[in-house]
Amino acid sequence: MTLPLFSSKAFFAPMAGVSDPALRLLCKELGAGLVVTEFTNIHAVVYKGAQLKSIKEFIEYSEEERPVAIQLFGSDLQALEKAVKIVSPHFDIIDYNMGCPAPHITEQMACSALLQEPELTRKIFRTMVKATDKPVTVKIRAGVSAPDKWREIALIAEEEGLQMITFHPRTVKQHYSGTANWSLIKELKQLVKIPVVGNGDIRTPEDAKRMLDETGCDYVMIGRAACQDPFLFTQVNDYLEKGTYREISAAERIQFFFRYLDYARNYPTIPFASIRLQAMHFTKGEVGGKVIRAKIGKVQTIDELHELLGKSMIP
Ligand SMILES: Cc1cc2nc3c(=O)[nH]c(=O)nc-3n(C[C@H](O)[C@H](O)[C@H](O)COP(=O)(O)O)c2cc1C
Repeated sequence: MTLPLFSSKAFFAPMAGVSDPALRLLCKELGAGLVVTEFTNIHAVVYKGAQLKSIKEFIEYSEEERPVAIQLFGSDLQALEKAVKIVSPHFDIIDYNMGCPAPHITEQMACSALLQEPELTRKIFRTMVKATDKPVTVKIRAGVSAPDKWREIALIAEEEGLQMITFHPRTVKQHYSGTANWSLIKELKQLVKIPVVGNGDIRTPEDAKRMLDETGCDYVMIGRAACQDPFLFTQVNDYLEKGTYREISAAERIQFFFRYLDYARNYPTIPFASIRLQAMHFTKGEVGGKVIRAKIGKVQTIDELHELLGKSMIP
């Protein structure tokens, strides 16, 4: 029922279509303290749970990723209870998504739409905590149009027995534009006693340290910058421990991507289109990256992708 021990203060963010089991494993090996699945619809979990021998065929993960959290979304309380019971034996933490701003999701009274619904949110948290013996956590945004009810939501989370809050302090309206308002993370840390994970706009080891220092948060979560460069986790850990870190060359970075490709071969649920997209992220910021990305768009298999990147990026 208590949170597992985390080997690092830097967590890998859940990202739909990105934080697949292969990339999560790579991030874990490179020093992420916690990895989280992409958000998963509770109705899909219930449906697949009834169809499949094991839910692992639908939500793939490996033992080496542990501790691993599953992130759920959806507000139908009966389906939620069933879904939590189905996933509970497999995962170390059950996380709940209250951050996704996509209209086709919020229209279903899910994710960030719940930031306006404290009473329903209370029922959701209560249902989840009752349905599992695993720690339940939540990831929130600051509000819909303006930062408003997040304080109330955070206090409800604590009252209902949730064990950690991840805060991406942007509003839904902001989507991913502008900057994350880190001062709200500091406010949250002062408001609740449970651990707080700060998230938003960490791109360098210095950013990670600055967020920890400025806000007092317990952990940081890194999304976009880590899918471009998972070695960032090693650098953050080194910087926090020793005050220095090592830069890596493009050739070294691509070797990590090859490791990702090797892992991805083991997971039938990762569509090749997503693997191609990961390659696009990985080559961002590289010399000649634009030309390489145009070629990535045309390859059809992991082997072709491996060959293309080997030829283009290894001197
Ligand atoms: C492509 C993409 C997909 C995302 N999917 C999810 C998701 O499934 N669940 C979630 O809680 N947040 C999701 N997020 C938000 C990230 O977890 C994170 O909060 C956000 O990117 C800010 O952190 P960053 O600045 O380190 O990227 C997603 C973000 C991106 C860019």
